[in-house]
Parts: sequence; structure tokens; C-alpha cells
Amino acid sequence: MKTKDIFTHYAKELKTVDQQLMDIFSSNVFLIPVIGKHILGSGGKRIRPLFLLLSADLCGYKETSRTMLAAIIEAIHTASLLHDDVIDGAETRRGNPAAHAIWGNQVVILVGDFLYSKALKIAVSQRKQRIMEALSEATTRMTEGEILQLYKIGDPGITREEYFEIIAAKTGVLISAACRIGAILANQPEDKEIALARFGMKTGIAFQLADDILDYVAKQDDLGKKLGKDLEEGKITMPLIYLLKTASDSEQDDIRHIIKEKAKNKNGHNRIMELFSKYNAIDESLKIARTLAEEAKAELNVFPASDKKDTLIAMADYAMQRKE
Ligand code: IPE
Ligand code: IPE
Ligand code: MG
Ligand code: MG
Repeated sequence: MKTKDIFTHYAKELKTVDQQLMDIFSSNVFLIPVIGKHILGSGGKRIRPLFLLLSADLCGYKETSRTMLAAIIEAIHTASLLHDDVIDGAETRRGNPAAHAIWGNQVVILVGDFLYSKALKIAVSQRKQRIMEALSEATTRMTEGEILQLYKIGDPGITREEYFEIIAAKTGVLISAACRIGAILANQPEDKEIALARFGMKTGIAFQLADDILDYVAKQDDLGKKLGKDLEEGKITMPLIYLLKTASDSEQDDIRHIIKEKAKNKNGHNRIMELFSKYNAIDESLKIARTLAEEAKAELNVFPASDKKDTLIAMADYAMQRKE
């Protein structure tokens, strides 16, 4: 199935997820739902809820409570975006001004906190210990990932291992939790729960790799956020890590200098793009994402062949091929 058809097939259920998401934003403190409407109304692919629904389907769990868990996962994602845009000083999110650019950092950080705790509060009411474990593990590690990333900003000595640790934590764990929860809801044996958790982790890492590549090569309108932002922030991602390993010594000096300047001038950015093309850094990075997506799919070997499994496999491909 094509990804577009998968989203269409789940459109009705994803609409319910959106309504429940808006409910998570509900509060007598009017600014909370106002900011909720802004960020949810700006768009977003809703891939994390979709992964949860697809995993639940693969495991044969159809009860309506699954949409609530999908909404909880997306609420956690939304909270992380509100915080992330403050941390990164990003002006645009989902094609609109980032929330903090309208309401200021202070309130937006607090709304993010509200969302994290409200999402976990609703999850507690499901009375399922393993679901709580998956969600609390995800939120803890996501914050660790963002902190480690901050610590490594502007450090050209960042290793591939450190980079993978960052993207596994900030992005992999939540997609992993989404997939794992599908298995937990369906009371699957441990091997299947672990397989789905690993599938989600690897797919999530491939997804973030794709995001880091798109930051250099996407079409601005497709992405809904500013291009070239990572270099500007001093955030060193896969294409640059690859380049720092393969370029000549003098080119590496250039790169380090550009990183230090945070590519404040256009020439720095252009020079990096030139070196990317000379050393094939984008294709090499895509290759790594592709390998991860293949490894993700192989994790599903414990499940017998089915349409549902094919759908999840198509989503793993989408994670690294996406354009937006
Ligand atoms: C953005 O996530 C942050 C990353 C982990 C790359 P998405 O690309 O899923 O963002 P939305 O929700 O579709 O806007
Ligand atoms: C995404 O990180 C935020 C989290 C996963 C918490 P990035 O900073 O890399 O993503 P964008 O580019 O702002 O969406
Ligand atoms: Mg960001
Ligand atoms: Mg960030």
C-alpha cells in the first residue's frame, strides 16, 4: 500500500485521535487550549499515532481505547516540539510561526510541561503498568537526548556513536513506545512486544536521519520549517559527521571553521553543500537510513505474513524516503 493510502485508510480514526488530543489540551486556563489549537491546527503528519494504530492492528487489538493512547503519544510529541522550538530558537513550525514566537518562551515552556504531565495523567487512568513503563521511559530519554544534543552543539569531535545516541533518544524512543504499546494493548507475548519496540526504534532513528538530511536538501514549502537550520545552530548531523571523516585535512579545517561560525554567512553553507556533493555525503547518509529501515523490517520476522505487516513495512520505508 502507498503511504498516502495508509493515511487515508486511517483518516477517520486519526480524526478521533485529534479530538482526543484537543481534549488533552483542555483547561480552564484559556491560553492552554489556544496554544493547542495553534500547533495542532498548523498540521503535522501524526505518524506516531499511526504507528501505534498499525501495531495494534498487527497484533489484532481493535478496541476504541487505542485512539486515546495514540493521542497520548502525539501529546508527548507535541510537548517536545513546543520545547524544542524554544531551545533551537526556531521561528517556524508546520509552516506557521512557532508558538513561542507568538506567546513567548515562558508560557510555551509551561504549556509543554502541562502537556507532558496531562498526557501521563490520562495514561495512568488506563491502569496498565507496562504502558506506563513505556511512556515514562520515552519521556525521560527524550529529555536526555535533547540535553546531550545541547552539550554537543558546535563540537566537531562528536562521534557517530554519540550522534546515534542522541537521535535514538530524542526521536527513536517515542516511535518505539508507540509500536510497543500496540503489542501491550493486545497482550502479546514478550518476544512480539520486543520486536515491535525494536522495529519502532530503528524506524525512528531512520526517520530522524531523514529529517537531518532534509534539513539540507528539502524544499522549504514541503518541510514547513527553515532549511539549513542545523548548521546555523551548530547541530552536527550525519552528513557533516560523514564529511568530517572523509574530507581532506585542509577541507576539514574549513568545515571546523564554518561550524564555529555557525554558518552565519551564506558562503559557509554553500561551501558545505559543495563538499557534500564532492564526497557524496547526502547519498551516504541516506544509505545508512536505508540500512536501518531494512533492519527495522527484519525485526518483524516474528510475525506471520499479513496485510497489516506489509503496511508497517511500508511505513518503515516511508520514514527514510519522506520529503516533508
Ligand atoms: C519533527 O517530527 C521532529 C522530528 C523528530 C524530526 P515530525 O516530522 O513527525 O513532525 P510533525 O508532527 O509531522 O510536524
Ligand atoms: C526534534 O528535534 C525534536 C524532538 C525529537 C524532541 P529537531 O530539532 O532535530 O527537529 P526539528 O527540525 O526542529 O523538527
Ligand atoms: Mg528543532
Ligand atoms: Mg532540536
